[in-house]
Amino acid sequence: MDKLLIQGGQPLHGEIRISGAKNSALPILASTLLADGKVSVGNLPHLHDVTTMIELLGHMGVELMIDERMSVEVDSTTINNLTAPYELVKTMRASILVLGPMVAHFGEAHVSLPGGCAIGTRPVNLHLQGLEQMGAEIQVDSGYIHAYAPQRLKGAHIFLDTVTVTGTENLMMAAALADGVTILENAAREPEVVDLADCLNAMGADVRGQGTATIEIHGVERLNPCHYDVLPDRVETGTYLTAAAATKGHVLLKDTREDILEAVLIKLREAGAEVNTGADWIELNMHGQRPRAVNLRTAPYPAFPTDMQAQFVAMNAVADGTGSVTETVFENRFMHVQELIRMGADIGLEGNTAIVRGVDRLTAAPVMATDLRASASLVIAGLVAEGETMVDRIYHIDRGYECIEEKLQLLGATIRRMPS
Ligand code: UD1
Repeated sequence: MDKLLIQGGQPLHGEIRISGAKNSALPILASTLLADGKVSVGNLPHLHDVTTMIELLGHMGVELMIDERMSVEVDSTTINNLTAPYELVKTMRASILVLGPMVAHFGEAHVSLPGGCAIGTRPVNLHLQGLEQMGAEIQVDSGYIHAYAPQRLKGAHIFLDTVTVTGTENLMMAAALADGVTILENAAREPEVVDLADCLNAMGADVRGQGTATIEIHGVERLNPCHYDVLPDRVETGTYLTAAAATKGHVLLKDTREDILEAVLIKLREAGAEVNTGADWIELNMHGQRPRAVNLRTAPYPAFPTDMQAQFVAMNAVADGTGSVTETVFENRFMHVQELIRMGADIGLEGNTAIVRGVDRLTAAPVMATDLRASASLVIAGLVAEGETMVDRIYHIDRGYECIEEKLQLLGATIRRMPS
């Protein structure tokens, strides 16, 4: 397994470009299954999860053309296999996103159950209940979800008990081809949900209210070819900004958007960062100062994102003062805490709250990545720590961060990959 070796202690300094959003790329690639003809998707990040989604579509017989700039043209008219097998789903839970489009367009889908993962049980009951309300017959058998829609799906009034991002996306995609109007109440408002809705509308769908808690989808009979570029990755953006804040640095991030990460920018300013923004860039400058500890609580958008929690725990670990970080979206999403403590952090866990008492310095240690965002927090800690930190199991990082060591090198970090 590849490892990252990081020689810490230097402030991040310089400019990089932000990639397209993983969490938009995955549903948008799945949505190509809805169209009659070729859909081309641009600004795709070069990531393992995106490759897995492409592999999954290829496994179904879908024709894909990839150009060297990671634009992908997808033609689902060649589909000949309506199964998402365990071997692929187990490596990427977001594979569940093919369920809604397949059953809506082809009347049938067989998708392996994603199962548990490092950050909690993560059920998909709301995806299934919503599809049932639209008239799909669902059976769960031998680890697979089997969904059938002998007739066209029907519009329905669906209330989601919990705000679920991929659940909202799955149901929105299914509803796009359903007969009649679907109303999703308590829908997720994440920018990636809006991006998917905009992509569906570019294909000829009629989705309204995206970005609010009530999404109204007027089903259409067919969706058409189009080209769509995915939006910038707000979590990648936030991760580099937080790394710069933790290392007392000064960075300029290009090809990104400030309006999709307001909650994070507010907390970075609270930590003492000077943050300036333009239409497609964000600059953060710590003026050589140590960050101040911040308190935060994760919740669905537009509140502070759970996908940025671990990185802020790492920043608080070296901040001036004590910060409390409460996780309300996922159970068991503090796996990074034990590793940070091994690097000298002073963190106490009380239920779903981490009390982080900032220390003057962290020290290098061999640490192990446990999930995607936890591994980003270990990289941040490694950039701050004195000495050489080795982060093991970085395949987690490669799922969500394009060329992380190249980008950090551009920002002046001493970091290299050690192939296994
Ligand atoms: C998505 C993101 C992930 C992010 C998460 C929360 C993608 C590909 N992944 O994951 O990066 O951390 O949103 O912002 O976009 N739940 C249920 N029943 C369901 C579905 C969800 O109880 O049927 C619960 C989950 O256990 C969790 C909460 O709802 O506690 C939110 O999960 P959800 O928004 O569905 O996360 P994902 O869509 O899997």
